Amino acid sequence: MALVGRDLGELKNNITKLLSSQHPFVSKVAKHYFSGQGKHIRPLLVLLIAQATSVTANPTTQPLDYQMIDLPISRGLVNMTPTSLFEQRHYTPYRSSSGCTVLPTQRRLAEITEMIHTASLLHDDVIDASLTRRNLPSANASFGNKMAVLGGDFLLARASLALARLRHPECIEIMATCIANLVEGEFMQLKNTKNDDRDCSDTAQKKSTFEHYMDKTYMKTGSLIAQSCKASAVLGGCDNGVKELAFEYGRHLGLAFQLIDDMLDFTVSAADLGKPAGADLKLGLATAPVLFAWEEYPELETLIKRKFSEKDDAERARSLVYQSNGLKRTLALAEEHCQLAINAVEKLPPSDAQLALVQLAKKSLTRKS
Ligand code: FPP
Ligand code: MG
Ligand code: MG
Repeated sequence: MALVGRDLGELKNNITKLLSSQHPFVSKVAKHYFSGQGKHIRPLLVLLIAQATSVTANPTTQPLDYQMIDLPISRGLVNMTPTSLFEQRHYTPYRSSSGCTVLPTQRRLAEITEMIHTASLLHDDVIDASLTRRNLPSANASFGNKMAVLGGDFLLARASLALARLRHPECIEIMATCIANLVEGEFMQLKNTKNDDRDCSDTAQKKSTFEHYMDKTYMKTGSLIAQSCKASAVLGGCDNGVKELAFEYGRHLGLAFQLIDDMLDFTVSAADLGKPAGADLKLGLATAPVLFAWEEYPELETLIKRKFSEKDDAERARSLVYQSNGLKRTLALAEEHCQLAINAVEKLPPSDAQLALVQLAKKSLTRKS
């Protein structure tokens, strides 16, 4: 993408530097998912939001001492000065031909966001016992569960250090909130407690189960995207209205993104996904396609409640999903959220970055992996 290509090109390199350690093996595990072909959606969004909101920003609220973000990391990088860590350009606010600016702190936020996301993938693949990601062996398959968990912890630690160095308390609060949300979302997925509500009528129970699924979806996927978009606007010195538009764009895009992910789990092969396909039912998870199918096929209730644990449960559920409108309705719901994301970003002043954010939202609906 031309608008942010240069910054994205440097992303992997800069993250690699942030993950240096005097214990090379911990770096190796933490860097494992950066050797494959990631989509870098989250950093792309942070950079585009930075550009799209820059025309609304108040420059007096922007921090000035950009070299602060690259103080040497104690132990491991002790001898490196800030300017030897990153090229000088890293400290220069970049102005595109259309007059949009990306600040050094926003570039660093893009890197932090990708590091938090990658930490969550390392942990997620342990929880899901998943052996592949991005068409490569997962970190747990390559190094074992213990190393993969520690590699994720290390990523999170270095992301936190980089975040602290932005010296922006509001931004730190926002990003710390979404790290907690990631964990809470994963807990909600493991526990799935709303199913136990016996006093509810049938319709109310289905509604409450679906609400629980959407709340969990926000926590595990929407929050990081929404909060990092908002944090980008915060670092740019935008007013509260613009910060909320950035948040709403990210929230709806994040929900659409996970709905499509849950649909692709039923419709795309493992080879195309680059990770196991049909994994959710095997993990006992009832995602949107199954919850919609349940409205047409009440027999799914028993299977959902016992988390597809008996022989042939997962296959039976899969075939009922294919016979139902579950996949179509999941796509329709993703389309609704995509439109709400577009409505939010269209309230910003027109710019190339705004157009790119609209296109990106539309593209998220047709992705195949
Ligand atoms: C992928 O979901 C996983 C997430 C979006 C979040 C995982 C969060 C944790 C494991 C909590 C720990 C968080 C941190 C920051 C260390 P998925 O399994 O549906 O997707 P997949 O098909 O890509 O595996
Ligand atoms: Mg997983
Ligand atoms: Mg998972």
